[in-house]
Amino acid sequence: MPRVFSGIQPSGELHIGNYLGAVRNWIDLQDKHECLISIVDYHSITQDFDPSELTTKTMDMAISLLAAGIDPEKCTLFVQSHVPEHTELSWILTTVTPLGELERMTQFKDKSRRQESIPAGLLNYPILQAADILLYRADLVPVGEDQVQHLELVREIARKWNARYKADFFPEPKAMVGTAKRIVGLDGETKMSKSLGNTIGIVDEPERIWEQLKPAKTDPARVTRNDPGDPEKCNLYTLHHYFSNEATVNNVADQCRNAGWGCLDCKKVLAQGISSHLEPVRERGAELRADPGRVAEILRDGAKAAGRLARETMSEVREHMGVMRAARSQGSHT
Ligand code: TYM
Repeated sequence: MPRVFSGIQPSGELHIGNYLGAVRNWIDLQDKHECLISIVDYHSITQDFDPSELTTKTMDMAISLLAAGIDPEKCTLFVQSHVPEHTELSWILTTVTPLGELERMTQFKDKSRRQESIPAGLLNYPILQAADILLYRADLVPVGEDQVQHLELVREIARKWNARYKADFFPEPKAMVGTAKRIVGLDGETKMSKSLGNTIGIVDEPERIWEQLKPAKTDPARVTRNDPGDPEKCNLYTLHHYFSNEATVNNVADQCRNAGWGCLDCKKVLAQGISSHLEPVRERGAELRADPGRVAEILRDGAKAAGRLARETMSEVREHMGVMRAARSQGSHT
């Protein structure tokens, strides 16, 4: 059975961008694949973050993922820092990763441009990502388009390590990008992203969804209510495809072209579609929020299962590299 690995940072809410771009695919894959999903808290510390919020955000992300449909019976869900082998393998992989490749990464260039002093962790970010995936020798990595370049580097790191240690050990994982590979935010321009404030959260209440949608950008040609528009130039029309039925999508297009509806009318229908689509997610989210012990237990079991696989990989990695084994202490059963 092919093994799937993917990760998500606990740096903000789970929004409809990463839901449509990645999480939805994880939920589909968990039925037919061995699936590991990690909340990658050590990735999130490469950018400005508030330590007093990290634990809450990690829990919130776990709740949102479970509410969205990640099933702990089918999929191992865990927090990256709970399996310390991720950082151990990451160090090993730094020794075979070309510096030039790291400097070339678009996300590194974007994020470092916004910082006065660039931490090495921002540069090494894709190496930790490689460790996440290679630790489980995963075959498939379902992600949005923005991660494809990192995945190419992960493949190169796997090749370099295999060549250096003359081992055919790490498979070259394949990125799997779905149809919603880049959901644009409500500003109609940039990728939907919490840090840009252009999102709709998947557990947002209907009032909040409407508040977010009301000022959202539409086709710039529709200056007044009576200007006809082009739905293909409207980001919200794209969202209708995911949250409205076919008849509504066709009607939205007609009403836009003929200026039958104003943009607010179209937004009302979209807000309704999103709210009802996400209603079961909101309900499950509320149930889980009321039972944090259950969520902690799921994450603990997930870390146990992932930790077992991680230790197996690390013991083989060390052996291939000729790293000295530690002597077992007497009476130790580990
Ligand atoms: P992150 O936390 O930014 O996003 C999680 C996943 O959601 C996808 N995504 C989107 N897809 C479409 N449209 C959008 N607007 C959108 N926003 C986010 C992302 O592509 C991603 O698949 N580096 C990764 C986390 C990571 C990881 C890994 C992923 C760490 N280790 C190992 C895969 C395998 C990241 O920052 O994702």
